[in-house]
Amino acid sequence: MADDGTIDLMGGGFTRGMLAELERKMLMQVFSRHIDAVEARINDGKEATVYLCRGARSDGAEWYAAKVYRARRFRGFANNAEYTDVGRIRDRRMAKAIRKGTRTGRRTSQRLWVDREWAAMQALFEAGVSVPEPLDHGPDAVLMEFIGTDGEPAPMLAHVRLDAGEARAIYEALKQDVAAMLECGFVHGDLSAYNVLYQAGRPRMIDLPQAVSLDDALDVWTLFHRDMENLGGFFRRQGLELDIMADAVTLWSRHAL
Ligand SMILES: Nc1ncnc2c1ncn2[C@@H]1O[C@H](COP(=O)(O)OP(=O)(O)O)[C@@H](O)[C@H]1O
Ligand SMILES: [Mg+2]
Repeated sequence: MADDGTIDLMGGGFTRGMLAELERKMLMQVFSRHIDAVEARINDGKEATVYLCRGARSDGAEWYAAKVYRARRFRGFANNAEYTDVGRIRDRRMAKAIRKGTRTGRRTSQRLWVDREWAAMQALFEAGVSVPEPLDHGPDAVLMEFIGTDGEPAPMLAHVRLDAGEARAIYEALKQDVAAMLECGFVHGDLSAYNVLYQAGRPRMIDLPQAVSLDDALDVWTLFHRDMENLGGFFRRQGLELDIMADAVTLWSRHAL
C-alpha cells in the first residue's frame, strides 16, 4: 500500500491519510485514560499500523506504542484463513461467518487477533519474557510500552549489525526468552529478526497475535522449529556457527514437554 495512496474501499477515494485520521481519533477515545496525543505512525506492518503516542499523565515525555488492527477491512479476507483457527470457535454460526468473511465475521476475527496478542503479551510479560508491557486494549487496538528512546523507536534486530560477541549474547538472551515462552505454554509463531527490536543491547520480542498455545491441536513443534530456523538464519549471517536443530530439540525437551 502506497503511503498516502488511495485505498480501494467502497469505490475508492479513501486515502491513507483519512484512514490514519480515523485511527488517531479511535485511539484518543479508547485510550484516553493513558494518552493525550498520537504523535506519529511508527510503522505500517502487514496486518497492523503502530502509532507512537504521548502519555496523558506526565510532565516529561512518556511514550506508548499503539498497535491498530485494521488491514482486514482494507484488503482481501482470504489470506486470513491460514491464521484464524476457526476450529477453536465454539459458536458454529460465527465460525461459518468468519470462514465466509461476512461483516460480523470480519469484526469477530479482528477482535480475535487483538485478544490473542493481548492475552499472550500479558502472560509472557508476567512471566518475565522480554515482550513490551501490555497496558490496555480495545476492540481494534493494543496499547503497550514503547520500545525506544525519547520517542525514537528501537531498530529491528534485522537492521542491526553485530559483532560475533554481541550476536552470541543476543542469541543466548533470545533462547532464554523462547524457553520462558515455552514454559508459559506458547510458541511465538512468527519469530524472526524482524519481530525483535534491539534496545540498549537487549532484544525485545514483539508481534504476538499468532502466538500458539502448546495445547492447540496444531503441529506446534513445526512452528517452533521454523521460529528457531528464522532466528538462526539471522545469527548465522552475523558470523555465528549454530546447530539450530540441536538447540531447538534441547529447548523443546527441557521446556515444552
Ligand atoms: N512496542 C513497540 N515499540 C516501538 N516500536 C514498535 C512496538 N511495537 C511495534 N513497533 C514497530 O512497529 C512495527 C510493526 O509491529 P509488529 O507488531 O511487528 O506488527 P506487524 O504485524 O505489522 O509486523 C515493528 O517492526 C516495530 O518497528
Ligand atoms: Mg511484525
